Amino acid sequence: MTDRTPNPGGSARQRGPQTAPPAWMPLAKQGNRPPPELYAHLQSHVEAERGLLEEYSAAAEQSQSKALRYLINLLIEDEIRHHRIFTDLVESVKAREVQYADGHWNDEDPIIPHIDFDRTDQAAVIDITEQLLQKEQQDAHELKRLQRELRDTKETTLWSLLVELMERDTQKHIAILRFARKHAGRRRR
Ligand SMILES: [Fe+2]
Ligand SMILES: [Fe+2]
Repeated sequence: MTDRTPNPGGSARQRGPQTAPPAWMPLAKQGNRPPPELYAHLQSHVEAERGLLEEYSAAAEQSQSKALRYLINLLIEDEIRHHRIFTDLVESVKAREVQYADGHWNDEDPIIPHIDFDRTDQAAVIDITEQLLQKEQQDAHELKRLQRELRDTKETTLWSLLVELMERDTQKHIAILRFARKHAGRRRR
């Protein structure tokens, strides 16, 4: 069964005509209804992030320090991305709730795509993610070496911090690629 199947409450096909769903059955198996408080939590997070973004902007404008402004601008870039992603999450959860209430799933093309690696050549997905993982791991290695070369500049420039941030980004990229590789390796039907 894919998560696109209309199936609020669990289908007869899945659990037999007269059987109640077992208490241990996770929500996902009952039709992927989002956890009840999720929408509210996401929305309050969006608000909090917006407040934070405004504080960052104000701090950047007020400061005479170019270094602080430079760093805050990096944070602002991240926060703008967080805001966009959280907005996508909120809309996805909301759409899912509406569909659950309507009694059928109709989100064939949601804002955040379904995990649909099975639509394509899964072996090719695994191949490409493995190649990219190798590049990222190489990148991580080089950044580490660069970091050692920057040791003496740590007290006087932002360079080492910036390289550290890229090291963290590289770990993030590795996590993304591992996720894709892992899920491409799974059969869904
Ligand atoms: Fe954030
Ligand atoms: Fe990268």
